[in-house]
Amino acid sequence: MARVFVIGATGGVGNRLINQLIARGDDVLALHRSPEQARRLATVGATPVQGDLTQLDTAELAGHLRGCDTAVFTAGAPDQGPAAADAVDGRGLALAVDAALTAGVPRFVHLSAFPDAWRDQSLGADFEHYMKVKRRQDVYLTATSLDWVIIRPGTLTNATGTGSVRLGAAIDYDDVSRDDVAATLAEAVHQPRLHRTILELTRGTTPIAQAVADAT
Ligand SMILES: NC(=O)c1ccc[n+]([C@@H]2O[C@H](COP(=O)([O-])OP(=O)(O)OC[C@H]3O[C@@H](n4cnc5c(N)ncnc54)[C@H](OP(=O)(O)O)[C@@H]3O)[C@@H](O)[C@H]2O)c1
Repeated sequence: MARVFVIGATGGVGNRLINQLIARGDDVLALHRSPEQARRLATVGATPVQGDLTQLDTAELAGHLRGCDTAVFTAGAPDQGPAAADAVDGRGLALAVDAALTAGVPRFVHLSAFPDAWRDQSLGADFEHYMKVKRRQDVYLTATSLDWVIIRPGTLTNATGTGSVRLGAAIDYDDVSRDDVAATLAEAVHQPRLHRTILELTRGTTPIAQAVADAT
């Protein structure tokens, strides 16, 4: 059993992740912004922690993180323009990393982005800015002493998970369901041999526990 702090717990991936972690018997702390979210998080068995990444400071967030084994960052503001990307995916990630270091949380799992995602569709300057922010924050995390794991998923879908994925250092771009991303993150939290590594993740045919074990 692990004590896991999930940042982005109310999102499409984060919500699935907390359910997966709780089903494994973990003690899950879930960052959320609105009071309504607190009730739902408590109902599924998570401990709600209210806070906004754009308002918290390092000491405050470190206070919430203290005693946790792992922090998982699945927060993001991909469709809200460059300022939101800078604030949440950029400064928010750095804040969470700094807070984990301050609190002595040893392990940090970051849900980043697949470098080749949608590059054939010319989605414009805001999207390119978003991708640059995600990469810059991967650089920030990898420069720390934390036991970090970075997962870079292809395009996220709401398809029902298959329980199987493709996971590797360099793989062809494809999509992947939020169910399977969450299951992969949960497995990564519990696989200590997955250590200071960056992995790309898409739909695939390898059972998730096997895919994570193969990546160690
Ligand atoms: N979409 C894709 O195809 C794709 C591909 C690769 C990677 N990704 C990455 O995967 C991440 C997770 O995807 P998703 O589908 O789970 O996203 P999502 O449903 O939009 O969830 C984003 C989460 O971030 C939280 N958040 C946003 N701003 C915040 C703030 N200021 N303070 C605290 N929390 C904040 C949201 O909280 P609220 O509930 O309060 O809004 C929510 O919990 C994305 O953000 C992106 O970085 C996405």
